[in-house]
Amino acid sequence: MVWRKVNLITCAGRFFKRVLNLVVNPLRSRTVHYGGIILPAKHLRFGGEHFRKDKDFFDSACREAERLVQHCGLTPDSRVLEIGCGPGRLPIGILQKVGDVRQYIAVDVDRKSVEWCERYIHREHPTFTFTYIDVANPRYNKKGKISQTEIRLPFADLAFDIIYLYSVFSHLTREDVTVYCREFQRLLHPEGKVFITAFVEEDVPNMTVNPQDYQGRRWTGPLHCVRYNREFIEQLYKEHGFVVERFEYGEETEGQSAYYLSKAGR
Ligand SMILES: C[S@@+](CC[C@H](N)C(=O)[O-])C[C@H]1O[C@@H](n2cnc3c(N)ncnc32)[C@H](O)[C@@H]1O
Repeated sequence: MVWRKVNLITCAGRFFKRVLNLVVNPLRSRTVHYGGIILPAKHLRFGGEHFRKDKDFFDSACREAERLVQHCGLTPDSRVLEIGCGPGRLPIGILQKVGDVRQYIAVDVDRKSVEWCERYIHREHPTFTFTYIDVANPRYNKKGKISQTEIRLPFADLAFDIIYLYSVFSHLTREDVTVYCREFQRLLHPEGKVFITAFVEEDVPNMTVNPQDYQGRRWTGPLHCVRYNREFIEQLYKEHGFVVERFEYGEETEGQSAYYLSKAGR
């Protein structure tokens, strides 16, 4: 009885917060200035507590760009594809650490993020472009009209040197992951690299949505955490013609692991 009451109060609290955000967020500023650099305002950022502080968001952006320089050969001449850019963490880092690159293209299913990036990044840096795709995702684009299985990204074969996804497979089911892996094989240049973060463990079912008590957290809501079995996801990469060049266990946001892939047999 007491437990039910507590639950009811928590749900009511969450509901109230959501309604308040719906009213207040459109009135809030969309940007903050950090050391002369424009960042997305806190309420537009993804990734929970890790990126709330401006310094943390900015430092992580720079680290991501440095990672791509060090492990994926990012230079001003690179052609980069980002899937699920959110409000521009990686491009902010790239502009800081490398400057304008030959081509950076991002796609995202969250319209607000894409609009932010167009307004605050693309206008000043025309080689950085952002495309909204109306693909359904129960967490990020509930009303999306296109199913992931129908998607073919509107880019030419072998058009990219780097494909980057941070904390995206962590919210996608295996069908969606499979479609993207197929697209990456088509889009990646033979010498190119793919960087992916995902929740990956050994000795767990192939895929689990919101695993109980995983990483000491309670995962709630649609596709909050999608965890994969390591062997299973690596087999999927293999079936799509990729080899794992480097694997770093559990060092990314909320305990995600990092994969660096290249094309098999190059
Ligand atoms: C946790 S956020 C990460 C944002 C950004 N990559 C970062 O690390 O700051 C996940 C992002 O993936 C996007 N996303 C979810 N499903 C997607 C899909 N099927 N295709 C492209 N983007 C997707 C979301 O809209 C969101 O921007």
